[in-house]
Amino acid sequence: MPTAAPSAAPSAAPSAAPATATAPTTPQTRVWDLFVRVFHWSLVLSVALAAASGFLLESRILLIHISAGLAAAALISARIVWGFTGTTYARFAEFVPGPGAIREHLAGGNRHLGHNPLGALMVLALVVLVLALAATGLVVLGGVDKSGPFAPWVSYAQGSGVLGLHEALAFGILALVAMHFAGVIFESRRSHENLTRAMVTGVKERRPGDHASAPRNAHPTLAVVIIGALAAGAWGVTASQAARPVPGLPVATLDATYKSTCSECHIAYNPSLLPAAAWQGIMAGLKDHFGENASISAAEAETITAWLTANAAETADTKVAHRLAARITEAPFAMTEQRYWKRLHAEIPEAVFASRAVGARSNCAACHGDAEQGRFSPFAIDLPKETLK
Ligand code: HEC
Ligand code: HEC
Repeated sequence: MPTAAPSAAPSAAPSAAPATATAPTTPQTRVWDLFVRVFHWSLVLSVALAAASGFLLESRILLIHISAGLAAAALISARIVWGFTGTTYARFAEFVPGPGAIREHLAGGNRHLGHNPLGALMVLALVVLVLALAATGLVVLGGVDKSGPFAPWVSYAQGSGVLGLHEALAFGILALVAMHFAGVIFESRRSHENLTRAMVTGVKERRPGDHASAPRNAHPTLAVVIIGALAAGAWGVTASQAARPVPGLPVATLDATYKSTCSECHIAYNPSLLPAAAWQGIMAGLKDHFGENASISAAEAETITAWLTANAAETADTKVAHRLAARITEAPFAMTEQRYWKRLHAEIPEAVFASRAVGARSNCAACHGDAEQGRFSPFAIDLPKETLK
């Protein structure tokens, strides 16, 4: 039997049991408990998925991006709770380093069984960044897409401003992950052990002189209660915000005269899709309307023009009002001729627009389930199935 370092007993599983015949000669000790290991690899997955879907910048996978990002933030929140209630090496008190510990580690000091001081700083930075990414992401979702718990509070301008910060933080987390890889490789070599495997098995070799901590018991029931309370709180806040009115949404029900008169040849466009001046231009030129004669009675024209003007893009705070409609100032006022529209739809094959289910580029409602309400939410985009063959 080797005489183990007297400073601290091994924590949880004492796998250094009295040797039976061919047992390994070096004593092992459990460092990472099951929660920490499952947390670690789930976080790797969710951050990778959030990063991949985020940098692709495609509206239709935004839901994956948001789910992965929220999953990462939920994992981090649970991990913070476990940092106060978990086993020895899961505790913040065990690994959050003071300046002295960092200096000693940099000078090549003894091995740490848990996170070494630089690794611990990395953990803290990742915790802060993931939470900041989730928070800024929700602000962008609220302002730009008018969805989620911040929708009642954030304007389009504020949301798109925070998007810059969200992107900068995303590059920050990529840099941290790269440094984390480098740190794991460096430390694995320096201490001649496979740190990645240790994060899978949870077990490390015990060596004389290790920085080891006095074992502490986990309180899993307490952790579950706190995590449950946090989840219930987050759900409650989100639900109460969802019930609030969202300012700046386009008019949701179309005027009856407008809808019946202007939906004969194409969908009745939501008035938030064009600025007031463009609507007035269109209404003044119905005799030659994109090559068609769409004339109506003067009385009807007056009613419709007034309603369109009152609900034009200037009154809406949506992405489509700011990015598309606001820039349409010249006749023939076609949305599908705008550079922004063309860029968004560049990857859709011509055959899809020509298909029976769509028919024309201007048939927004064929692919955007919320076109009539003027929302054009990234969550309501769906190419008609018939177009895919
Ligand atoms: C006789 C058929 C007809 C009627 C009625 C009609 N339109 Fe049109 N409209 C067209 C055609 C054709 C186009 C151009 C092709 C396209 O974009 O689908 C067009 C295009 C438009 C566009 C631009 C769409 C784009 O691609 O950006 C707007 C806006 C529009 N119409 C508004 C109206 C309004 C408002 C009324 C009611 C007063 C109206 N239309 C009635 C035939 C019609
Ligand atoms: C054939 C289907 C189709 C038609 C018709 C169509 N769109 Fe789209 N639209 C899409 C798809 C697919 C995307 C997502 C592109 C991406 O993934 O970035 C999109 C994206 C958008 C977006 C960006 C949504 C966001 O928040 O990211 C806007 C705004 C938009 N379309 C407006 C329009 C308008 C206005 C019309 C009608 C004049 C229209 N679209 C017609 C398929 C269509």
